[in-house]
Parts: sequence; C-alpha cells; structure tokens
Amino acid sequence: CGIIGFVGNGEHETDALDVLMTGLSGLEYRGYDSAGVALGDTDLRVHKRQGEVSSLEETLEANEPGGESVGIGHTRWSTHGPPSDVNAHPHTDAEGRVAVVHNGIIENYQSLRTELREVGVTFQSDTDTEVVPHLIARGLEDGLDPESAFRAAIERLEGSYAIAAVFEGSETVYAARHESPLVLGLGEDGHYLASDVPAFIEYTDRVIYLDDGEFATLTGDSIRITDSDGEVVESSVETIEWDAEDAGKSGYDHYMLKEIHEQPTAIRECLRGRLNELTGRIELEELADIAFDGPVTFVACGTSYHAAMFGVSLLNRWGVPAQASLASEFTAETMPLTDDSLVVGVTQSGETADTMRALREANRAGATTLAVTNVVGSSAARETDHVLYIRAGPEIGVAATKTFASQQAALTMVAAALSDHRSRELIQSLRSIADAIQQVLDTSSAREVAHAYRDADAYFFIGRSLNYPVALEGALKLKEISYEHAEGFAAGELKHGPLALVGPNTAVFALVTGDGEEAEKTIGNVKEVEARGVPIVAVTDGQSDVERYADHVLEIPALEDVASSVVANVQLQLVSYWIANELGRSIDKPRHLAKSVTVE
Ligand code: G6P
Repeated sequence: CGIIGFVGNGEHETDALDVLMTGLSGLEYRGYDSAGVALGDTDLRVHKRQGEVSSLEETLEANEPGGESVGIGHTRWSTHGPPSDVNAHPHTDAEGRVAVVHNGIIENYQSLRTELREVGVTFQSDTDTEVVPHLIARGLEDGLDPESAFRAAIERLEGSYAIAAVFEGSETVYAARHESPLVLGLGEDGHYLASDVPAFIEYTDRVIYLDDGEFATLTGDSIRITDSDGEVVESSVETIEWDAEDAGKSGYDHYMLKEIHEQPTAIRECLRGRLNELTGRIELEELADIAFDGPVTFVACGTSYHAAMFGVSLLNRWGVPAQASLASEFTAETMPLTDDSLVVGVTQSGETADTMRALREANRAGATTLAVTNVVGSSAARETDHVLYIRAGPEIGVAATKTFASQQAALTMVAAALSDHRSRELIQSLRSIADAIQQVLDTSSAREVAHAYRDADAYFFIGRSLNYPVALEGALKLKEISYEHAEGFAAGELKHGPLALVGPNTAVFALVTGDGEEAEKTIGNVKEVEARGVPIVAVTDGQSDVERYADHVLEIPALEDVASSVVANVQLQLVSYWIANELGRSIDKPRHLAKSVTVE
C-alpha cells in the first residue's frame, strides 16, 4: 500500500488534491487495487474507488471542487478483505469526524472489532484498518482532543502500521509508525508525509524518516515528532540524492534489487501473528478446519514450483506424504484424487493459467484445495476452499525474489500446521531469517563473484535436501535475467550425467550448509568437480570445510536448515542480479518473459 498526506502553509496556495493525486501516481509502482483521498478541514470529504488511480480521478472530476490545503490519500494492496469501494481507504467513523489511511497489518483487529461492536459500532468494510477511526471517535466522545484520541487509539494496536489521520475542522495531519515505513517531507509550501519518498519527490527532497514507535503532528508550518511517551524527539533532516525518475525504485537501479532488499520486511510480515513461541505451534487460522487424508499434492509453475518442492520435503520430513506436480503436467487422471485429497496451489500472482487449471480440476474431483498466494482476491484465492496469503507486498520485477522467500516461509508454516509439527526450534529458525538476510545484504561479496564469472560458458548449481530446490531456483533466476545457460541439480545427480558438461569455463555453485551427513556428501560431489579443474563457488555457513575446495565463498550465518536454505538463496539472487547487470541485460523485464502467464 502507499500513503500520502499534505498540509499547506498558505504561501504557495498548493492544492492538497493536486499533491495527493501526484503522490498516488508516484506510488503506483507499488501495485494497488484501489485508491482514495480524504480532503478538507471544515467538512471532511472522502472519495475512494476500487481499481486504478484513473477511476478515482473520474469520481473526483465529477464531485470534488478541490481547493483545500489539507488531505491524506492511499493506494491499497489488499491484506484483509478483497478489493472493493468500501474496503478502499480512507476509512472513517460513523459521523465522518476522522479519516484514516493505513499500511500494514493490525493483528488484534478481530478483538477490537468485537469490543467496538459491543458498544454499538457498525462496520462498513472487511478491513482491519476500520477499527482505527472508530477507536479514535470513541476517544473524542470521551472528551479527548484529536491528538490524544489518535495516540490512545494507536496504543491499542498490535501489529505493523504506518497510519495517518485527518480530523474534521482541523488543519493538522497526525501520523504514527510501527514496522511499516513512513517519511515526512519539508517543502516550501507545506509539509508532506508518505510511505515512500517517490510520493512527494516532485515537491521536496528534504525528508525526515520516522522511527518505529514515533508519532508526528504536521501543520503547514510545524512538524512535531514525539516518542511513545509523548516526549519530543529531535530528528535529522536528510536530502534525497536521487531524482523523480529513480524514485519508484527508492534509489535502487532496478526493482529486482529493491525487492531483494525488501526480503527481511517481507519475511517478518509473512510470519506476523502466526507463530506461538510458548507452545511451539504454528497457528494458521486459515487452515484451522482443513480436512484431508492421504498425500498432499502441490501444483505450481516456475519459481513457485521450487517453493512447492521445499514444502514437500518438509511435509515428508514431518510424516505427511506429499508430492509436487508441475501444474502444466497435472491431470486428475495421472494424479488420482478423492474427496479426502488436499491439493495446494502455490502461485504468487494467483492467476497463472496452468496452476488455475490444475486447481479447477482438483475442485471438480472433489479434493480440498488450498491456495498459497500473494494477491488478495486473485483467482486462486477466490476459487479454492482455503487461502493463505504470503504477504510479500507487490513485486514488480518479473523475476520472483521476495515472493519466493515468503513462499518458503509460508510453506514451512503450512507443512508444520498440516503435520501438527510443534517445535520451538523451528519457530526460532523462522524468526532468525529476517536478520540473517539483512546480514547477507550488508556483507555479500556476490558482486565480486559475479564479476569473476560473468564470462563463464555455463553455470551449474548443486544442493541437497532443502538446498536442492534452492539450487534449481538459483539456476532459474540466472537464466531468466542473464540469458546465460544455467542448470540446477541435486548434488548427488551431478555424477550421473551433468558432470560431462563441466570444464574450466563453467562455474559450479555449491550450497553447503550445516556440518551433517548432507554437507559431507555434497562436499564429496564438490571434490569430484574440483578434481576436474572446474571453478567452484561455495555458498556456506562455515560449519564444514567446503571452503578448502572452493575458489570463492559466499557466506551466510550459521542457522538451522530451513532458515539457511532461505538465506542461501539470497546470495544466489544477488549473484544473478550482478551477472545480469554486468552483461547489461533488461533485468526487470527480461526478454520473452511475463510476470504472470495467463495462457496454458
Ligand atoms: C511466470 C513468471 C515466473 C513465475 C511463474 C509462476 O512464468 O515469469 O517468475 O515463477 O510464472 O507464477 P506464479 O504467479 O504462479 O507464482
């Protein structure tokens, strides 16, 4: 989602509506399914529509004179409730005294809804956000001033949020952040706020980044930032170096690189509210009443198929028979299904034709179906019995990066929930991923490795067990964006044929994590390659002695194996990115490929 807000100081007579609409267009790259604005000081006017910003514009042209100096706007990427006019932001209380826009997930919204219903509140939307204006309105009714009512409401929230609110009869924008970005802009004509700089870069490049737990109160000529205790915080003003054209990528050269860097956040969102540290249980309410008997069949394509393989390994490990089928190969005849079967469609877009056909066949055969997808309200979400959202946020680069990491995390949770596998170690392992990815992003030598091997004739990736799908994904990523020949193999298979392909001008990337038998065996395979004078890049956590046989090492922190295979993949994403970059390829839109393929 994207947030924009503005309060003018009257000097340049900047129209808030112009700022909001420019901002919403600037945030379009984030992907959205609906958009809306709230304007005005004396009477609060809210306009919101499902669909593109252009359909909001039509509504505005017909109904909104503009000319206001204060307002907030929002582009929505659904998390709770499908895209619709009522689910679009801003949300208001019953009397329209306050309008609120929100990014993030409010984990305790169900209990807040129940509490508010008990005091007579009627909800208009299915969103988690709508509790916020109603909580604020309760504060106003209790005699609090707007700022106190806003703070009191925010204090009730658990989860992640960047929130902005405007009140009837006030020329102030109130904002708060917790684990969802929010940045303030200092312009000559007033003050701005947004979830990301591109929303207002046309107006100002002087910004203050809010920290978690901070509140901001913006008027035309003042900005006050306070901490959770209400103490004023001194924040530094920074100047943005990149221009409007680069802004959508937040200063990164490509969406792919930006999305690779968004993985710690994506993983945290995916896990949010789903792990119970105390019991060691993974609690997916989406799967609460799922019934199945017999093998679990996954259907998926491309990167999502690799994630499905990962899920299959874990289910098998935890005692539930499972298999993955390429969606294009799946038929109800080749994969006999009964009423007791469970078929899981893994698809980030929720629209891939091959996967949808497989899921529809499974539905017809009477199987229970589950979609694991990133897109709320997508075909997969609508046409299956159960749906689990991976919450990676919009992904623009054609090559899937953060959605794969989120699928790995989500499918680990699905496998644990379906097998009723309870383990505090697993929960700790999942929790360790985000920081470990950050460490890799901060320290990776993938760029040097890419430079060293940019002219190789071919690239091979090998891994065992949970690292096997990662090897396949590493190769797929590289071929997608570099157009170079790359293949992934189960490490043990190399000697059964592909070894004939290796030579001094090929590079072999070996995933070796942990110090167990699997690592030992993979090192054995590495030695077979090394003995033939083939350059080797080891992706390793330093627990084995694979470095002795490697020409280059890409390090990751030492973690339990679920986490290490998610984190190891990030090194491979970076290698692919930098090789493609050195070769001058069209990284975000590789030739011949589409983000979502809607033909079979
Ligand atoms: C396309 C994309 C791939 C993706 C595959 C499955 O081929 O280019 O990156 O992995 O579709 O997409 P899905 O949306 O079903 O995950």
